[in-house]
Amino acid sequence: MLSSFRASLVVFSFSALVLVSAGSYGLTDFIEGQSFYDAFEWETLDDPTHGKVNYVDAETSYYNNLTYASQDTFILRADYKSVVPPQSRGRDSVRIVSKSTFMEHVAVFDVRHMPEGCGTWPAIWEVHGDNWPEGGEVDILEGVNDSGPNAATLHTTPGCSMPGNAGQTGYFTQFDCNYEVNGNTGCSARSDNPNSYGPNFNRAGGGWYVLERTETFMKIWFWERYNPSVPASVRDYSEDIDTSNWGAPFAYFPSNSCDMRSKFQDHSIIINLTFCGDWAGGAYGQSGCPSSCEDFVMNNPHAFTNAFFDFGSIRVYQPYE
Ligand SMILES: *[C@@H]1O[C@H](CO)[C@@H](O)[C@H](O)[C@H]1NC(C)=O
Ligand SMILES: *[C@@H]1O[C@H](CO)[C@@H](O)[C@H](O)[C@H]1NC(C)=O
Ligand SMILES: *[C@@H]1O[C@H](CO)[C@@H](O)[C@H](O)[C@H]1NC(C)=O
Repeated sequence: MLSSFRASLVVFSFSALVLVSAGSYGLTDFIEGQSFYDAFEWETLDDPTHGKVNYVDAETSYYNNLTYASQDTFILRADYKSVVPPQSRGRDSVRIVSKSTFMEHVAVFDVRHMPEGCGTWPAIWEVHGDNWPEGGEVDILEGVNDSGPNAATLHTTPGCSMPGNAGQTGYFTQFDCNYEVNGNTGCSARSDNPNSYGPNFNRAGGGWYVLERTETFMKIWFWERYNPSVPASVRDYSEDIDTSNWGAPFAYFPSNSCDMRSKFQDHSIIINLTFCGDWAGGAYGQSGCPSSCEDFVMNNPHAFTNAFFDFGSIRVYQPYE
């Protein structure tokens, strides 16, 4: 009797400790399989970055199998069957935006495969509503030209920059997050893992991208699928997670010279796949890909059979009150 009373006391004080420790969060959104259709809205706008893309609505993407859900899988892809008529906006593809928005949170993206192919420009990112860059943007996984490693990037209004490379395993290619600098390059931290993007990522079975956002920093980790040091809570779909013992992320954005509270407001999660446009189009010339970007994308459907995301799930955790 006494010993079991003691044991439960120990358990109680241990969990009380966990509740107050910084870096401790509980699961609030578990998006898997069919529930992507409830958690996201499909956007059909013209790509603001001038991509050669025709974003379709949810019904069209469902009937044309550009999105496909099974119990533990959600596929989002571009059309790979049709030549695109010259007067069209571009190749059919999908852009989804989460209905919920988030302030402090941890987002865990379990990604088995990401889009690859000449001219592709895929992204997993977060942004605040319509007044961009007010409210800020965080790019978690984004790139062009099939070439990694991945870079994670913040885009903000003027007056936000990063102090250096301390606290991360990656390295900054630009410190200033101000969207006005260098044509909206943003403060961008490149991963040290060559399997963090594109064909290499897919050969490694993908992995987990994780964003932690607090009032004073953002951190982004990537663990590839068979890395033994992926935290068990990330791998095993835990209800609670504690980021404090995860080690250095590849991208660490502290608030030393960036007031995160004013630069970032509530964010939606966005997943999109465009083609060519401002970045992928500009990089195409050095890509070793044939023809011009737009010509290639319009006329070679079979080159896009691997232009798809395969998600195991997206989980969002929020801090305990
Ligand atoms: C739709 O896509 C899924 C995933 O790629 C695939 O398994 C399935 O066979 C496709 N269905 C049709 C009708 O093509
Ligand atoms: C996705 O959409 C947003 C806004 O439409 C755009 O800024 C972004 O560049 C697009 N593509 C990627 C890969 O992020
Ligand atoms: C595109 O990829 C090619 C081949 O990997 C590489 O040489 C080139 O530097 C890349 N260009 C850009 C802009 O990423």
